Amino acid sequence: MRLAVIGDIHVYTLTPPPWALLSKRVLGQANLWLNRRHAFDHKLFDCVLKRVASVEANLLLLSGDLTTTALESEFRDIASRLEPLTQSHKTIAVPGNHDRYTFTSARVKRIEKMLPGFVPETFPKIERLGERWSLLALDGAVPRIFNARGRLGEEQMLRIHEHLSSLTSHDGLVVLCHYPVKCPPKAPPLTYDHKLAESGRLWRMLRRCAARVLYIHGHIHRPWCWQPRHSHSAHITYINAGAPCLTSRRYPLGQGWWQVDLPDDPRKAIHATHHVPDTAGIKLDRKLNGTRTIDKWEARRVM
Ligand SMILES: [Fe+2]
Ligand SMILES: [Fe+2]
Repeated sequence: MRLAVIGDIHVYTLTPPPWALLSKRVLGQANLWLNRRHAFDHKLFDCVLKRVASVEANLLLLSGDLTTTALESEFRDIASRLEPLTQSHKTIAVPGNHDRYTFTSARVKRIEKMLPGFVPETFPKIERLGERWSLLALDGAVPRIFNARGRLGEEQMLRIHEHLSSLTSHDGLVVLCHYPVKCPPKAPPLTYDHKLAESGRLWRMLRRCAARVLYIHGHIHRPWCWQPRHSHSAHITYINAGAPCLTSRRYPLGQGWWQVDLPDDPRKAIHATHHVPDTAGIKLDRKLNGTRTIDKWEARRVM
């Protein structure tokens, strides 16, 4: 089975109606005007979608933060941008903290209502992927006034525990959650304000799980694929999806997206390929923001 994984897209609306600013959103919009809009180049997104379509994945996974401040206009925008893929691909998305940016957006379940085809109505969402693999989609996004700390809650933790306990060493499990549970040793550690409240508990549960585990997340705008060497967690592979439209000196045309090939037998090797725009010859000029396209891609097989 082939998965395509797209991370933090963060579409935005620069001029929301004034009433929409009577909330934490006023901070998010200020950050958008001052910083984010210079770094996120959504004109690149069509090129990303075309490349994703070309690998003929069986399932498209979106790891959250589709929007910036959970406005209805942002959800409409992302739904129409994704349409060429979501019409032809089974798609599952989990909410990120920016998709539940305000208390109202969480209370009215805006992401679930505005993206009904591919955001599950309830979490955790457990789905079979072929004979031996299953998908566990988690919702760790909660609105907060001053930080971006995530929380799964006891009900989800209980269901996760039940599902993990039912798996054997012949099974494979794909976890899709916006928040990471663990980062590579060289990455900056997760801070209290940005991590999942249950990250330690969830990680210990996954460590004890008998199945082969692939943990897919976003949230940290920096792509990686990490396979710990310790024997107690060597059965877990982590993929951080990154942000496909976030431009930087290191990723002048965005951070790309991931293709993951799951073997029928979960005891065999998983293959992960990072599709990154080929930037040879690209001038690192911020003024080009908004006018760039991706002509060539590099497929970096990392596993
Ligand atoms: Fe994000
Ligand atoms: Fe996030």
